[in-house]
Amino acid sequence: MSVYSRLTPHLLAELVAITGQGYVLTDEEKMLPYSHDETRGDRYRAMPAAVVRPATTGEVSQIMRLAQEHRIPVTPRGAGTGLSGGAVPVHGGIVLALERMDRILEIDRENLVVVTEPGVITNRINELLIKDGLFFPGYPMSRESCSVGGNVATNAGGGRAVKYGVTGRYVTGLEAVLPGGETIKLGGKRAKDVTGYNLIPLLVGSEGTLAVLTQITLKLLPLPKASMDLLFLFDKIDSATSLASSIMAEGRIIPAALEFMDRSAVALACRFLGEELPHQAGALLLVQLDGAGEEELYAQCGVLGKLGEKHGALEIYTANDATSRRKLWRIREAVPEAAMSFYPVQSGEDIVVPVAAVSAFVGFLHQLADKYGCDVVSYGHAGDGNVHARFLKRSEQPPDQWEANLPGMLREAYRRAALLGGTISGEHGIGLKRKDYLNEVLGQTELSLMRRLKAAFDPCNIMNPGKGSGFK
Ligand code: LAC
Ligand code: ZN
Repeated sequence: MSVYSRLTPHLLAELVAITGQGYVLTDEEKMLPYSHDETRGDRYRAMPAAVVRPATTGEVSQIMRLAQEHRIPVTPRGAGTGLSGGAVPVHGGIVLALERMDRILEIDRENLVVVTEPGVITNRINELLIKDGLFFPGYPMSRESCSVGGNVATNAGGGRAVKYGVTGRYVTGLEAVLPGGETIKLGGKRAKDVTGYNLIPLLVGSEGTLAVLTQITLKLLPLPKASMDLLFLFDKIDSATSLASSIMAEGRIIPAALEFMDRSAVALACRFLGEELPHQAGALLLVQLDGAGEEELYAQCGVLGKLGEKHGALEIYTANDATSRRKLWRIREAVPEAAMSFYPVQSGEDIVVPVAAVSAFVGFLHQLADKYGCDVVSYGHAGDGNVHARFLKRSEQPPDQWEANLPGMLREAYRRAALLGGTISGEHGIGLKRKDYLNEVLGQTELSLMRRLKAAFDPCNIMNPGKGSGFK
C-alpha cells in the first residue's frame, strides 16, 4: 500500500504558479463534476484535493514532477464519459483534467494522419475531415461528448469495430509525460515501425496508470462514398446472432456495424420511446453497410436479404436517407437512457465473448438474473461479440439485498464468459469497476508481469493508483 502526502497550501501555490490563476480548482462545488465518470453508483465517486487544468505538455510535465517528488496521486481525466470509474480519484490528490488541451495541431492530407491534443472532442476530428473525404474510424458511441485522449487511454471500441477495429489500430504516434515529468515521444506518422519494443500499444488502453498522453497521431482512412442501413426483426436471439455470423462467413461481407438487441432490450427501448415493433419482435439485428458506391451496396443488400430470410427474419427494413436511418437506429440508441430511466440502480457490463457464443451467453445471463431476482437486458456489438448486459435492480428488491448479490452475480457472469473464451471488458476498461475480477480472466503470472510493467513506468505508484491492471 502506497502512502501519499497531502496537497498542502504550499504545493497548491506551486500548482497555481505552473498553470496560472483560475486553473487549479479546490472549491467542492466546482470539483463535483470531476469526482465521477458515467458509471452508476455512489461507490464510483470520490473527491480530489484539487482539479488542475494544464494547457501545455510543459505544464503537465511540471505538475507530474511536483506530484512524484511529493507523492501526490494524479488521476488523468478526459471528458469523463467513461463507464468503469477509471477517472475517479479514489486516493484524492490531483485530478489532471486535460480538457484545455483541445487543439487539432495538424491535418496531414498527404500522409493521411491527424495530430491532436488529448482534449479534442472526438467527433470534431471527423467534422473537420469530411470536406477532405477522410475520416478517423475508431470512434465510440459517445463520440459527441468523449475526448480523443480518453478514447486512446481506454482503447475505446464502439459500433464500427467489426469492420474498422478499435482506437488502437489508428494510433501511430504518441507523446506522453511520465510520472517523474519526463516527456517521451513514440512512433510518428510512419505506417510501419519495428524499432525497439512497441510501447504505443502498451500505453493505449493503460487507463492513465502509466503516463499522461499529451499528443496523439492518428491514422485516417478515405471516407466511404455510400452507406446503407438494414434492420432485421426476429422472434429469438439465436436467429439474430446466427445471421450476424453468416453475413460475414457465408455472405463474405464485413459490415461497418452489426448490432444486436435481445427481447428485453427491445421491450425496454420500445416502452421508453412509446413505440411498438411488429410481431412483438424477440430480437433485432442492425446492420450498416458502407462502400465505394450505391450499386455495390444494393448488391450486398440482396445477399443480406436472402440470408435474413434463411435465418427466419420476420421483417427487414432498409434505410439510405438520414431520416429513415435515424428511425432505425433510434431504438438501439435509446437503450442506455431507457434502462437508466426505468431502473436507477443497475450494473452496466462490457463482456466480450467469441462471436458465435453471443446467444448462448445471453441465454445464460437471463438464467442468472432469474436466480438473483433482478432484470437484465443485453444488447451490443454482435459483429465482435461485445455484449453490453445491464443488470437492473427491480424496484421491489431491497437495496441491501441487491448490493449483497451483485458481486456474486458478476463473478458468475464473468466466469461463464471466460469459459466461453471471453473476457470481462471489451471496450469500457477495468478502471475501478472490474479490478477485483481481473483474477477471473488473468493468471497470477500475467498479473504479476503487468504490475512489474506498472512499477517500471510509475515506481512511486502515483499514476491513477488503485485502478486497472496495475492496481494497488
Ligand atoms: C454502447 C456503449 C455504451 O455501445 O459502449 O452503447
Ligand atoms: Zn459499446
